[in-house]
Amino acid sequence: MTAEVVQGLSAAELPDPMVMPSRRQCPLDPPHEYAVLREERPWSRLRLPGGRVGWLVTRHEDARAVLTDPAFSPPLIQVTPNVDLPLPAEELQVPPGMFSAMDPPEQSRYRRLVSRHFTRKRSRELSPRIQQIVDEQLDGMAASGSPADLVRWFAQAIPTRVITEMLGIPEEDQEEYHRWVIAALTLATPEEELREAGSVIVGKLGALVAAKRADPQDDIISGLLLDDERPLTDEEVVSISVLLLIAGLETTANMLGLGAFALLEHPEQTAKLRADESLMDNAIEELLRYLTIVQFGLTRTAREETRIGDRVIPAGETIVVSLAAANRDPEVYPDAERLDLLRAETAHMAFGHGVHQCLGAQLARVEMKIAFTTLLRRFPDLRLAVPAAEVPTGEDKVFYGVHELMVAWGE
Ligand code: HEM
Repeated sequence: MTAEVVQGLSAAELPDPMVMPSRRQCPLDPPHEYAVLREERPWSRLRLPGGRVGWLVTRHEDARAVLTDPAFSPPLIQVTPNVDLPLPAEELQVPPGMFSAMDPPEQSRYRRLVSRHFTRKRSRELSPRIQQIVDEQLDGMAASGSPADLVRWFAQAIPTRVITEMLGIPEEDQEEYHRWVIAALTLATPEEELREAGSVIVGKLGALVAAKRADPQDDIISGLLLDDERPLTDEEVVSISVLLLIAGLETTANMLGLGAFALLEHPEQTAKLRADESLMDNAIEELLRYLTIVQFGLTRTAREETRIGDRVIPAGETIVVSLAAANRDPEVYPDAERLDLLRAETAHMAFGHGVHQCLGAQLARVEMKIAFTTLLRRFPDLRLAVPAAEVPTGEDKVFYGVHELMVAWGE
């Protein structure tokens, strides 16, 4: 079936250049325009902030090619192609340590310093502590009584506690860091508010780094300070910590909230998961593909002229790779628009691809596995407490998710 038939829309009806699609017709699906573009105009001219025009890429094959081509650099801040950065690009300098915005070999040098904390082995070793956190949060939710907001008790709280503990942020400050990360990743946060909150957090992190330099503990920040291989300045350690907070908290939180919503909306498939927990690893990969919470994709700019297939990309051109569109490409995933927790082809691009591929993927997988398994086990009759159409969703956030998920159980 062609995209035209599926969507009732053809590429000729879409603007050229495009504005980044952001309005969803269904809360669990990306905007319909992606399917049309992928089929009919896979390289689409895209309007960028500041009047520039770049490309929007929607096919899996092209997405992989762009993300593995060393001629492309990431931006300083991976926000959304619809929203201008708070400062003109010339004024933006990559802070030392913010390796998500760097190219190899600088990026790889910094990344190596933290990667040992995020290996599969290390992430699995954290399982008992993650299980404890999940149990405490679900105890709290059970005690609060049905109905309850799963976003508050479960989706937000678990990754916040995990990443702040790993960094060595004191418990009493965790909530403040969490609020700041949410503000930073909400598109409508006023610039002034963002700057103020940002400088408070950077100041707090600076003080924390100084304290740990004097009295190191068993956490990531102290580990970075003690590293002999490459002594880091306080500024570098603060930037790396900011990156880990921004990248590691709201991403996993949105996958937990939106993932729970998707499971409750597909009760027959979820019943199979409950009956056989060994299906959970596969189910998580499929949820990552299907939901692709990095909803505006990844931006890259060519430092030099390069070639993708038979297309020449001049130096300075910007390409936005839609991970959401690539992850629903029917060339790779049969019946791509369907959530199929038992799907055989589970390799996906929800964690990106190439040298910047998600550093925390193994940790996120462990968190999701423990969290979803425990949730389904503990609340066998969990259900939505409001009609699905009334669940507030986050088209206004860099990472897509649900703002609130009222659930009920018992009775
Ligand atoms: C389900 C949850 C998550 C999703 C969907 C996700 C997604 C992504 C994606 C798409 C990228 C690629 C960015 C690019 O190429 O420009 C990325 C990079 C990154 N992620 Fe994640 N992420 C998740 C969880 C985490 C966690 C738990 C951490 C831990 C701190 C983390 C840390 C990072 C870092 C540091 C980078 C930058 C890597 C680099 O540039 O070398 N992420 N993530």
